[in-house]
Amino acid sequence: MLNLVGLIAVGVALALPQVAIAGDAAAGDHRYHQSCHACHGPAGKGVSSYPKISGNPVEYTREKLKAYRAGQKIGPNSGLMIMMAKPLTDEEIENLSAYLKDAKYEK
Ligand code: HEC
Repeated sequence: MLNLVGLIAVGVALALPQVAIAGDAAAGDHRYHQSCHACHGPAGKGVSSYPKISGNPVEYTREKLKAYRAGQKIGPNSGLMIMMAKPLTDEEIENLSAYLKDAKYEK
């Protein structure tokens, strides 16, 4: 009996971080429209010199956003993105990455 309780406790402990990590695409959609849409366009399709950012794996978008947040320069216009990424929380980055993975601009 004690072993069973122990196993359940371990199972819960292992499951929790995954719940915290999985991005919420709907929340990401909302966040996207607060501060990313103006440059990256509808559904992250890209506008002129602002790159397309939708359709990439979650890991890709997450790494880019964390690099910008850390002040890392990636392309010639990283200054703009560093400014935009600074205020993002880990949770917002997960949500935005989840939203952008499947975001599609129908037209
Ligand atoms: C002021 C305009 C602007 C805003 C607002 C903006 N971005 Fe960007 N974004 C850029 C530019 C310019 C680049 C290319 C930067 C470079 O040269 O490194 C970029 C690059 C990116 C990249 C990397 C693309 C790649 O494949 O290398 C991601 C991901 C991204 N932006 C996500 C976002 C998200 C999410 C938001 C909202 C929180 C956002 N951006 C808001 C201008 C903007």
